[in-house]
Amino acid sequence: MLPPIEFQKPLISAEQLEARVASLAEEIRADYAEAVLPISVIVVLKGACFFAIDLLKKLDLPCRMDFLQASSYSGMGSTGEVRLHSDITLPVAGTDVLLIEDIVDTGLTASWLAQHLTSHRPATVRLCTLLDKPSARRIAVRIDYIGFTVPEAFVLGYGLDYDEGYRNLPAIYTVG
Ligand code: IMP
Repeated sequence: MLPPIEFQKPLISAEQLEARVASLAEEIRADYAEAVLPISVIVVLKGACFFAIDLLKKLDLPCRMDFLQASSYSGMGSTGEVRLHSDITLPVAGTDVLLIEDIVDTGLTASWLAQHLTSHRPATVRLCTLLDKPSARRIAVRIDYIGFTVPEAFVLGYGLDYDEGYRNLPAIYTVG
């Protein structure tokens, strides 16, 4: 059973998401103009999938897509420990990797994943996150592309969940 949550005005509306995703795609396309193509886009499941699919539909650049699944959150809090549930299957050695996250909160997951991908010997690794919550940071992470900076609050919708629910909300809401 999902906890009942009363949603008020979204923190980020579907229209704002659509506009920012389009401008991010343009920034990324311009930055990768000189890249070894196709680039390797690695999507962190499950939270980043809505964002990644919308972004890639707008990204006018040859790319390959792969997924990995990691978690460090349980309910509404970080466990402080990153667990890799499934890894990439495409070889990424020598390619330009773009890692797509839903949110960088403590920074533990993104920093662990960037190191993990670096061990596959790509040419470069860049990080793109839909949301950045800098007030919760516990470890420094270099983020190359940020959709929106959000305040210290639990957020959900557009891929982000609460106990696996609410991912399919078309906008982003805060809880609590
Ligand atoms: P971090 O390792 O603390 O940076 O958190 C990374 C992961 O925790 C994200 O990829 C999300 O899956 C989850 N997470 C962190 N903050 C939130 C939130 O406010 N709402 C939903 N999920 C979150």
